[in-house]
Amino acid sequence: MRIGVDYYPEHWDRALWAADADLMQETGVELVRLAEFAWCRLEPQDGVFDFAWLDEAVALFAERGIDVVLCTPTSCPPMWLYEKHPDIVQIQQDGTPIRLGIRGHRCVTNPTFLEYADRITVEMARHYAGNPAVTGWQIDNELEAYHCCCPHCTEEYRAWLTAKYGTVENLNRAYGNVVWSGEYSAWSQVAPPVGTYPHAWLNPARMLDFYRFCSDSVIDFINRQAALLRKHCPGRPVTTNVWFCEYMQDFYKTFENLDFLSYDNYPSATVPANSEECYSHAFHLDLMRGVKRGPFFIMEQLSGGTGCWGPMGRQPLPGMIKGFTLQSFAHGADAVLHFRWRTATVGAEMHWHGLLDHSNVPGRRFREFADLCSAVREIKPLRDTAIKSDVAILMAFDHEYAFKIQPQTNGYYYLEQLQRLHRAFTALGLNVDIIGQHEDLSGYRIVCAPEMYVTDSAVVERLHRFAESGGTVILTTRSGVKDEHNNCIMAQLPGPYRDMVGAHAEEYNPIGYDSTPIVFDDGAVMDARQWCDILVCDTANVLARYNAEYYKGSPAITRNAYGTGKVYYIGVVGTQPVYDRIARTAADEAGLDTVELPDRVELVTRTGDGVRARFVFNNDDQPKAFALDGREVALEPFEMKVLTD
Ligand code: GLA
Ligand code: ZN
Repeated sequence: MRIGVDYYPEHWDRALWAADADLMQETGVELVRLAEFAWCRLEPQDGVFDFAWLDEAVALFAERGIDVVLCTPTSCPPMWLYEKHPDIVQIQQDGTPIRLGIRGHRCVTNPTFLEYADRITVEMARHYAGNPAVTGWQIDNELEAYHCCCPHCTEEYRAWLTAKYGTVENLNRAYGNVVWSGEYSAWSQVAPPVGTYPHAWLNPARMLDFYRFCSDSVIDFINRQAALLRKHCPGRPVTTNVWFCEYMQDFYKTFENLDFLSYDNYPSATVPANSEECYSHAFHLDLMRGVKRGPFFIMEQLSGGTGCWGPMGRQPLPGMIKGFTLQSFAHGADAVLHFRWRTATVGAEMHWHGLLDHSNVPGRRFREFADLCSAVREIKPLRDTAIKSDVAILMAFDHEYAFKIQPQTNGYYYLEQLQRLHRAFTALGLNVDIIGQHEDLSGYRIVCAPEMYVTDSAVVERLHRFAESGGTVILTTRSGVKDEHNNCIMAQLPGPYRDMVGAHAEEYNPIGYDSTPIVFDDGAVMDARQWCDILVCDTANVLARYNAEYYKGSPAITRNAYGTGKVYYIGVVGTQPVYDRIARTAADEAGLDTVELPDRVELVTRTGDGVRARFVFNNDDQPKAFALDGREVALEPFEMKVLTD
């Protein structure tokens, strides 16, 4: 559990470097990340390398016992490279090249770019192989599965499809290309989906493969860099930093060959007044821990008010800088690096605030950061404790992509139901893992499988076996809708899950921004939003029925006994109380050890050799007082306490 910062020596006068390093050391910084955008300084001319300035910076940190994570600078090729090879930029879906002056605009399949990217990577790796201060590598920065339509991507895309389908006839069949006369008669006709019209006009099967291809392309680039780093700078762990963005590559595949995951964590600095709104970043943290099922880095952490591509936002409230970092450690982060040490005085991001303001005079946020550094020293002994969870939530990028391609109804988005289930179970004080849908389910008692939209038969099979042998499965609406190509399955929903659910939908009603009441067996009335599956029970019992509309009285939520286990089916998108109620029922039924927590108080239980540590965190701007394990606990806004037995 280490605290670090993101630092840009190339942005600052050299006279500041030593003082910065001194202050870092004095404050308790143990790690710095350097150089992810510094290509123009590392290779100022084609084939002319200059590592002297970076050596100097690395040495300043090393002398002060601060470890360095170096980055490959391939996110921002230098201007001379664009001048020589203007074709290395991405081509957007409207056919126009991305304009220069920003970052991340190179195409990662372009062979010329790859040649140069390989060369700078190898040069850096060799140069730092003998330097023990460099303890790890970050590949590029926030790579995304961009939808590039350049000639190289077109060629790669064809090759990817040829490898998958063999012939255009197979491809036509898989995609249903007969619709609108979309059948290909030769591979030369196959190209990335271009045009300015919305995705909705394009064949969803074609689009899903295109998303998968774009994800694979960027992962190939990551693996290529990882191989070079490992070869030329052996023994240093390699990672890349991801975030929740528009074009996410498949995180599960991204990190298969990397040593650990890194995530950029920017929780909101405002506390939502509406209790329906998601207030916690714990979901993201649990999801990131679940990718490699182990500790991860926060490579960038909120340090000040945001702003630069939009108007500036509020400063983090007192307690947030310390609290959100401790929350990250509780959920499995092994290092948290703050973005950034000092707010830039130049460049596009001069209004994205770091720990220090433009003045360079330590202020409120910096003092809180210093306090955080001391607090971390105290929890370090708990580093090797494990987060064991009885509850898992399944996630997959196929669903994320398919819902993006075809929004289901107004207001619907994939991660919402995962978030609501996560919130419902964590509110009971339970640890929750969010894991890839292909993961082994053994060891869990309850597996939430929300919106299993794009069907993978191995996953269907595993969920059946899990329930059959005594587990609880919670399935939701929009499951079993599509086959693996993103075409509709000709069966009553939830298709391949129908037997375990013990109910089927006779019809569904996408109600968008409207809501409609559902009533539980004890008379409790709650709201369904966005979607209504009008269910008929085969063998299941009804937990809630619709209380309005032409399907008043029809089942909306059911529970079925399957093998020695149980299967819940939530046929609506609910408001939060719906998920809270199902989580409570399922947890009690499974005999899980739950606790009462005040609203917005979170608990992570970590266990080790004879130790049980309860990390309790107040994710609210109001103080809280409550009893836990027979003890009175008082928490200030955004305060974390660790209670050990
Ligand atoms: C991202 C990037 C950083 C910086 C921050 C804040 O996380 O990785 O380089 O742009 O956002 O804007
Ligand atoms: Zn391209």
